[in-house]
Amino acid sequence: MADLSVNLCGIDFKNPIIPASGVFGYGREYEEFYSLSELGGIATKGTTGQKRTGNPAPRIAETPAGMLNSVGLQNPGIDYFIEHELPNLMTKNTVILANIAGATPEECAEVAEKLDATDVHMLELNISCPNVRQGGAAFGTSCEMAGQVTAAVRKATKKPLIVKLSPNVTSITDIAKAVEAEGADAVSLINTLLGMRIDIRTRRPVLRNNVGGLSGAGIFPVAVRMVWQTANAVKIPVIGMGGVNTGEDAIELMMAGASAVQVGMAVFTDPYAPIKIISQMNDFLDQNHISSVREIIGTVQPW
Ligand code: SIN
Repeated sequence: MADLSVNLCGIDFKNPIIPASGVFGYGREYEEFYSLSELGGIATKGTTGQKRTGNPAPRIAETPAGMLNSVGLQNPGIDYFIEHELPNLMTKNTVILANIAGATPEECAEVAEKLDATDVHMLELNISCPNVRQGGAAFGTSCEMAGQVTAAVRKATKKPLIVKLSPNVTSITDIAKAVEAEGADAVSLINTLLGMRIDIRTRRPVLRNNVGGLSGAGIFPVAVRMVWQTANAVKIPVIGMGGVNTGEDAIELMMAGASAVQVGMAVFTDPYAPIKIISQMNDFLDQNHISSVREIIGTVQPW
């Protein structure tokens, strides 16, 4: 068995695999398949100051190598999360990353402040949701706004702060540097790519929101490129995600510079995907006589 453990921002993970925010709820459905303690961590569904019902349906559409979603940050609100979901998650012997969002920097800071008073291990600030009118990608596509919202949240919490970045930008490295400068302890990327499908019979967009975020295997090369660029631009750790389906995908993202890897859409087609990915990573390391997964981080040798 290779050593799969990693340390991010002072937090020990038994392995680098974390189901991504929004695909795993609060873990309850997946616990029927395996013990959540097998996971490196869990990123919870994005939580806002108040309950949100999200966007009108249809808000999911299949694509040839993935899916579009326009969920719109449906969630029960921070008070419900802290009272009803977090206590259960904190018993699971895995690292809990509370994903947070808000329409304003003040709302994000208020949510972070409430979580600061809990035992949650880390916060992941979502400045990249493409499906909301206020906040979300509006924060994550401007260095100034990304810096402002990060600074507001930084003031509100001493917990390790990850900022989740949007790929829908001209230069992801500029945004990463802006949030690093305002106190982010790590960045995670990539969130979904903005996309659209049209029903050619009705001439209506398939999604009621017209546009949505593209995830799945089709975006993996974009994720590898952006993780590589970002890891070379900032000093803080990078958590990679975007179309990871196999252990070899996770190894590839780590060679690009990721210190840990989130698994998104893959859990919809196979709930066991994170567990299989952990096992496949171990096989790759064993077969290649690599004793620790930490040895491969950022080891790509560009031409
Ligand atoms: C959503 O709830 O719309 C998805 C979240 C995200 O893409 O950040």
